Amino acid sequence: MSVKPQTKSWLKVVLTTTLLLTPIACAVQNITTAQQPTVKQKTQNQTYSQVYTDVQNLVNMGPRVAGTPINEKASAYIEQQYRKAGYRTRIQTFTYSKFRDAGSSLTVDGTTIKANALFGSAPGKLSARLVAVPNKARAEDFAKVNVKGAIAIVKRGEIRFTQKVDNAVNAGAVGVVIVNNKSGNLAGGTLTQKSKIPVLGISGDDGDKLYARSLTTPLTINFNANGQNVDVTGRNVIAFQEGVTQPKVILGGHFDSVELAPGANDNASGTAVVLDIARKVSNTPLARQAWFIAFDGEEDGLHGSRAFVDAATPQFLSELKGMMNFDMVGVNDKLLIGGSSELTKIAQVVQPKAQLFGASYANGASDHAPFAARGVPILFFYRGMEPNYHSRNDKTVDPKLLDETTQAGLDIFKRLVTN
Ligand code: BES
Ligand code: ZN
Repeated sequence: MSVKPQTKSWLKVVLTTTLLLTPIACAVQNITTAQQPTVKQKTQNQTYSQVYTDVQNLVNMGPRVAGTPINEKASAYIEQQYRKAGYRTRIQTFTYSKFRDAGSSLTVDGTTIKANALFGSAPGKLSARLVAVPNKARAEDFAKVNVKGAIAIVKRGEIRFTQKVDNAVNAGAVGVVIVNNKSGNLAGGTLTQKSKIPVLGISGDDGDKLYARSLTTPLTINFNANGQNVDVTGRNVIAFQEGVTQPKVILGGHFDSVELAPGANDNASGTAVVLDIARKVSNTPLARQAWFIAFDGEEDGLHGSRAFVDAATPQFLSELKGMMNFDMVGVNDKLLIGGSSELTKIAQVVQPKAQLFGASYANGASDHAPFAARGVPILFFYRGMEPNYHSRNDKTVDPKLLDETTQAGLDIFKRLVTN
């Protein structure tokens, strides 16, 4: 793979920072020992290194979305691999609230159009006439039509979703349909404020047709916005040698993935590298210097790592020399290492070939961030953006890059604990 490493756009950084600053309710439940799972090893991949096989086995399960059976199966696989490598394991469970579309729909003349409730939309089932609002649904645009008791169909763009919805409420509408400004679905749209009326998003393809039809034909639509907050239980897999209660270093990476994405690079790669480092040190004194963690719930807002630091005592955290996080390390040739200045200095000496970033990356959007926020020195290993990020095509990684990351991580880990 020779995709050029890229860093994230400013917009993304700003959005991410906002996300990180948003307090998210996160109840740490209990830490329990989990049962022994059974997982069949694939045989056709035996010519590859174990780290690559781990990535393939995780990817073959399907998307590992937190709170789903596949995710739980993946956590059981990871746990079993650690046990085979001679480690004890604990499953740390935690719960958080997540907005999910539990089956929204929009029907016109017996034809159903794919629709998604916006995050923050009030739930609601309606049957009402559909009124097209001109332009981009500013307050003055609503003055040109009568949406009282009707469902307003509006176009995306120029002003925020929430403003369009507020304007619709003020004009007496009972529901809003937002048409995407691209052909694809309007999935994952978020209202910055919870709405009083239900709001659905539809694709540009379907929406433009419906909008045009509603201008010429009186239409009544059936509308069901069925978004709900559901409790998700995440499971961090923590591996350690018997009796080790205070590690010097935590090596971690998230194993959950986003919806629909098999998450090979993001982040079966980091999960497998951490596991590989654990295997390589298993019969050495180094194994007793670390805890190895596969974090869950990262993609929903760093819930697993936050649950971990929330459950840890200040003393436990203050005795850590560092937290090493691995996220997206199987694609793009150049290994990037960001983090706290005291640790990037060490990394620089051990890995002169890696590209180093300073503290700005310490706050980036992955599992090192909650540790950094508690004053734990961190190192973040990654290889930058790639075209398949968060898509169905995140299916492949380069085995050579996994091995290189394991080696770099191992060398730096050794240096951290002997310093
Ligand atoms: N793996 C990504 C973060 C990342 C992106 C690392 C690019 C290296 C290069 C992570 O899983 C992710 O997607 N994080 C979210 C934010 C999180 C708080 C939900 C993101 O970056 O948008
Ligand atoms: Zn990730």
